[in-house]
Amino acid sequence: MEVDRLQNTHFLLKHIWKSNFFAPIEQLLDSCINGKGAYVLDIGCGPGTWILEMASEYPDAEFIGIDISPVYPSEVKPPKATFYEYNVLKRLPTIPDNTADYVHMRSMNAAFTEIEWTEVVLPELIRVLKPGGWIELCELDMQFCNPGPSGKRLSDAAIAFFATIDINGLIAAKLSSFLSETHQLRKIKQEERSSPCGKWGGTVGQLVSQSLQVAKDNIDAYIGLKTYLSDFMGVTHEEYDRIIEKSMLKKFGLI
Ligand SMILES: C[S@@+](CC[C@H](N)C(=O)[O-])C[C@H]1O[C@@H](n2cnc3c(N)ncnc32)[C@H](O)[C@@H]1O
Repeated sequence: MEVDRLQNTHFLLKHIWKSNFFAPIEQLLDSCINGKGAYVLDIGCGPGTWILEMASEYPDAEFIGIDISPVYPSEVKPPKATFYEYNVLKRLPTIPDNTADYVHMRSMNAAFTEIEWTEVVLPELIRVLKPGGWIELCELDMQFCNPGPSGKRLSDAAIAFFATIDINGLIAAKLSSFLSETHQLRKIKQEERSSPCGKWGGTVGQLVSQSLQVAKDNIDAYIGLKTYLSDFMGVTHEEYDRIIEKSMLKKFGLI
């Protein structure tokens, strides 16, 4: 279920951003110098959907996917796609300094505390990045835009709950300042997109709402959060289900 949800989310993000990436790397990915193409890392690659698409579209580039849990494909994959099982919080042992032309990391806001972002993860991404390379981070903000009362109750509770385990659900808005505070990067740019969520938003709205609700053993989707969040909010499981249902009815968007 979780792999399905991540694949669904991948296609939604691609639809919302109209691309698999935002950094100006098209030429880099198409280039091949002395038989060597660009070296690309995807940290926390999950089932590897992003890598599988990118490696098919840019066959000269080399793609390395890294995840703490080996849910990525092990046999059937494009020739220049490789996957490693690493915990980025313990660094990336086989990736030398200054090797990556482009480092991509997406949907990791529930994986790291703020201190881990600033003291471990971002320094590690910068360590492996070549001078002149690009880092791209893409994160969902847990705060709904323009929510109704149930949506607001739910997202406020999720943000407060994650804060109790030192996870900042609003980290997306802080990432560009974290990057700039390293004093090691130039041309830092932040962009936001919102999307509909709920039946009122047509197919995309329904898919976004499904992707937010359904996930097995995954703490960043609302049904997965039920056990923790209903206790935290002081409501029964039935009431919690009703709040989710109602929250998806009012017109609101997500950053
Ligand atoms: C929400 S999924 C996102 C997957 C993928 N980036 C995508 O956009 O489809 C988060 C992924 O991060 C991985 N992850 C969590 N903590 C990690 C860590 N410390 N090191 C490496 N991967 C990690 C999880 O196993 C999971 O596959």
